[in-house]
Amino acid sequence: MTADPGTPWWRSAVIYQVYIRSFADGNGDGLGDIAGIRSRLPYLAGLGVDALWINPWYPSPMADAGYDVSDYRNVEARFGTLEDAEALLAEAHTAGLRVLLDIVPNHSSDQHAWFREALAAGPGSEARRRYLFRPGRGAGGALPPNDWQSVFGGPAWTRVSEPDGRPGEWYLHLFAPEQPDLDWTHPEVRADFDSTLRFWFDRGVDGFRIDVAHSLVKEEGLPDLDGRSPVPSPRPNGSAVPPHPHWDRDEVHEIYRAWRRLADSYADPRVFVAEAWVDTPERLARYVRPDELHTAFNFDFVRAPWKAAALRATIDVTMSEHAAVGAPPTWVLSNHDVAREVSRFGREQIDEPAFDADDLRDRPFDRALGTKRARAAALLMLALPGGAYVYQGEELGLPEVEDLPDEALQDPTWIRSEHTRRGRDGCRVPVPWSGTSPPFGFSPEGTAAAPWLPQPGNWAGLTVEAEDGDPRSMLTLYRTALRLRRELPALGDGTLRWLDAPDGALAFARDPGFACVVNVSAEPVVLPEGSRPLLASGPLTADGAVGPDTAAWLATSAG
Ligand code: GLC
Repeated sequence: MTADPGTPWWRSAVIYQVYIRSFADGNGDGLGDIAGIRSRLPYLAGLGVDALWINPWYPSPMADAGYDVSDYRNVEARFGTLEDAEALLAEAHTAGLRVLLDIVPNHSSDQHAWFREALAAGPGSEARRRYLFRPGRGAGGALPPNDWQSVFGGPAWTRVSEPDGRPGEWYLHLFAPEQPDLDWTHPEVRADFDSTLRFWFDRGVDGFRIDVAHSLVKEEGLPDLDGRSPVPSPRPNGSAVPPHPHWDRDEVHEIYRAWRRLADSYADPRVFVAEAWVDTPERLARYVRPDELHTAFNFDFVRAPWKAAALRATIDVTMSEHAAVGAPPTWVLSNHDVAREVSRFGREQIDEPAFDADDLRDRPFDRALGTKRARAAALLMLALPGGAYVYQGEELGLPEVEDLPDEALQDPTWIRSEHTRRGRDGCRVPVPWSGTSPPFGFSPEGTAAAPWLPQPGNWAGLTVEAEDGDPRSMLTLYRTALRLRRELPALGDGTLRWLDAPDGALAFARDPGFACVVNVSAEPVVLPEGSRPLLASGPLTADGAVGPDTAAWLATSAG
């Protein structure tokens, strides 16, 4: 049963991810902006979410879509001004929506004043100590200092030309070369991020999503990977996770304890959500211990194939590991880094996690099936205990755009992988709002600039305008589910109780008086005795059973 009204809002919040570049373009330059978000606040409030998480809106050269920040305490001119940001915060609060921003502490932009100063100051300088500069290996230091790899492909090191023009030191970048890693052992780095948190908290920001929260601390001496995976590698819960030189190191938690104290120092305490891709659910739960972060994205749910056993196992282990530390789980189906769920679920489901668009591309896609399953998955997600994230466009049933022309691709993955991986642009295509052809209301009427990524010409049926009021649309399903979620005391924070269900189906109860049945099999599943449907992701069968790839919310007399 839902905890008492004193339960903090974030324990059961549904948070809508606004990928600002692609949400709504207010000024007609083809790029989303703050004016666009402001104009769509009524839509967001009407959808029934509790809060927004806005991807980075700070000044940035956009080498990685804003995750290369050149000034943490300002707003990118292409997105608006600080005044616009303050107005948005005020208006969102008036509309009953809290606002989380996205903080990027692992790396800055190479255009940040600190990095420019470091380049100019030369080897051995104080300024270089805020980053991870090292001499190269081999003759003349011509080789990178170690064997670490960039997540986007290629070595994680770039060599600089020193002020005298000669080839010099190397600096670490776990992501693109334009994203130099900061050295978190440096007290100024810590102090500056504290100032950034306060700067935004003082302006009314309700919390932060922490970008790559698991990477801030590196092993002293920066030892080679020596065969360890360059990317986090999921493994069975409970298995020993050998220490990694730069992912998920134990020392990182001390930073978050300090951040928690800072957030708690506000009268209306502020919250954090960790983006931490770690190896096991137990490792993830460490980030949400009572004196650390409030919540963490549950990427195991994103990774889970549409298979009953896999879904149930993920739910069970998530629930138990979070319960052990007293934190609410979160449920996530997609975000700006993974393939949209319509496109994941519209493929044959294999046991290997396939959340990366590049791993799906060559497999046959059935959009109707993917949409059907995505509808059922939405009801599953919103019925589970804890909080949930909705990535913009998910509520419209947008598929991944898999045929973007090569010349349109902007994800640094494309270039860094030497054109072998196309990257994440397919889930970042601007939202279709209205009309029958691009830009589908994304930019104001009569705008000459095209959206920064081209929208498919056949999205007319997927616009907000087209789906609005259509009882069969994904938008109507989300709106109805979110409304019921607010009304039903059983939903949100709390626990669940599994009910008996045939193979291939999930059924659970939540008190008082609620049950959810998710049919992941080919056979219809009859409703539990004494229950009646409140909402279903698709029509029930003629006998009133839940058909294949369908979910239903039920009122039960029990509990
Ligand atoms: C996170 C972001 C991703 C970004 C990366 C580097 O994973 O979600 O979009 O590219 O961090 O900042």
